[in-house]
Amino acid sequence: MIDVLLGLQWGDEGKGKIVDYLAANYDIIARFQGGPNAGHTLYVDGQKVVLRTIPSGVFQAHCLNLIGNGVVIDPVSLKAELSQLVQIRPDVPGRLFLSQKAHLILPTHRALDAASEAAKGADKIGSTLKGIGPAYMDKTGRNGLRVGDILSGDFNKKYEQLKQKHLAMLKQYDYEADWKEWEAEFFDAIAYMRDLQIVNAEYWLDKQLKAGKKILAEGAQGSMLDIDYGTYPFVTSSNTIASGVCNGLGVAPSRIGEVYGISKAYCTRVGSGPFPTELDNEIGEALRKAGNEFGAVTGRSRRCGWIDLVALRYTVMLSGVTKIILTKADVLDGFAELNAGVAYMIDGERTEEFPFEVCTANLQPVYQQFKGWEKPISTCSEYEELPQSFKDYCSFVEQYLGTDIAYISNGTGRDQLLVNPGKN
Ligand code: GDP
Ligand code: IMO
Ligand code: MG
Repeated sequence: MIDVLLGLQWGDEGKGKIVDYLAANYDIIARFQGGPNAGHTLYVDGQKVVLRTIPSGVFQAHCLNLIGNGVVIDPVSLKAELSQLVQIRPDVPGRLFLSQKAHLILPTHRALDAASEAAKGADKIGSTLKGIGPAYMDKTGRNGLRVGDILSGDFNKKYEQLKQKHLAMLKQYDYEADWKEWEAEFFDAIAYMRDLQIVNAEYWLDKQLKAGKKILAEGAQGSMLDIDYGTYPFVTSSNTIASGVCNGLGVAPSRIGEVYGISKAYCTRVGSGPFPTELDNEIGEALRKAGNEFGAVTGRSRRCGWIDLVALRYTVMLSGVTKIILTKADVLDGFAELNAGVAYMIDGERTEEFPFEVCTANLQPVYQQFKGWEKPISTCSEYEELPQSFKDYCSFVEQYLGTDIAYISNGTGRDQLLVNPGKN
């Protein structure tokens, strides 16, 4: 079976930390979508590491790591990431595998991302500018270049053809890009990638599954950024929900086991787009400070707000989440009162469904209020030590979502994770 772990909000729920912890129980960690727009933070021996395209299983010495066909790979970014990792873990390249079918991000994809955002002006998505959207557009437009292509003799020709297409598009945008500078490092990185382990990943995974290996699929971004179900058009360009695992790795739905959904005990979003429970005030500011809510990739400050149970119940439904992992619970220490969004009012009508019109509607969240905790969560080392008020909050969330909370994360370290006995 292949288990899945994904973010249930707008990304940055703490997936990297949790995968790093859970990887102790798995043989293989596989990324199935996204690319270097992801920034997954882990702490290894007290040292902060941010992973972008490489799965978060690399710090468990026994774990193999696969970058699946659903991922878009920027060779330059991959080379930089891997070169850095090798300094601390020289064995990583030997445990890293790339799907032949993963698509490549070209320097001109990054230029097109920037040009498209600039052209949108105030309506911009707030993209990470890593070329994600343009690379997926070329994939679905049937123009893309794939990892397997770098081993063929006519790769340079294919590259040149696609680049010319991109240059024509950039002209229409009237956008000056420094893609020429990026080209030399691109080909350098392509040469580097040729020495990595490139596999026919669907067969490779099938063999591993038949040999009884335990696999965890690591999501990137969050369910509310899903191309189909997120707050379109303020989304990313891939399927971030559990169904993306089947497309992004070539595994059948019948092989999916546990689906872990991660949510912060509050909520954040980086980039533009609707965020019903956003706190554009001093409480939001306090959350940002306590949670150190600044982007791992772009350094942008993250928008903060209360947990939105309407959106969460929607994403739990979409992915068939079997267990919830609640992260950053410690960040709410020190708040005398907190809220959870339980419904929306739209033009005087109450709804508990996530609405199609989320980008345009006059939408007000309805809150359930909770008392703050009687003692700090950050100092707890066992589930039993957690304050009763927090346990009550968790029970409410479980009831609303119809799903158990299996783990509670109360700090950045790998072991700052409390196991809910009987529920994991
Ligand atoms: P990801 O993209 O889902 O992997 O999350 P990010 O790494 O982008 O952002 C999560 C941030 O929260 C990182 O800086 C983590 O070190 C930090 N973090 C994760 N879990 C916890 C937690 O339980 N408490 C606190 N205070 N920080 C956490
Ligand atoms: P992880 O895996 C948070 C957001 C961007 C932007 C939108 C589209 O670290 O949780 P893109 O570059 O994908 O075209 O940007 O999606 N976004 C993320 N927000 N965490 C992420 O990844 C994100 N990846 C993309 O800010 O609003
Ligand atoms: Mg992140």
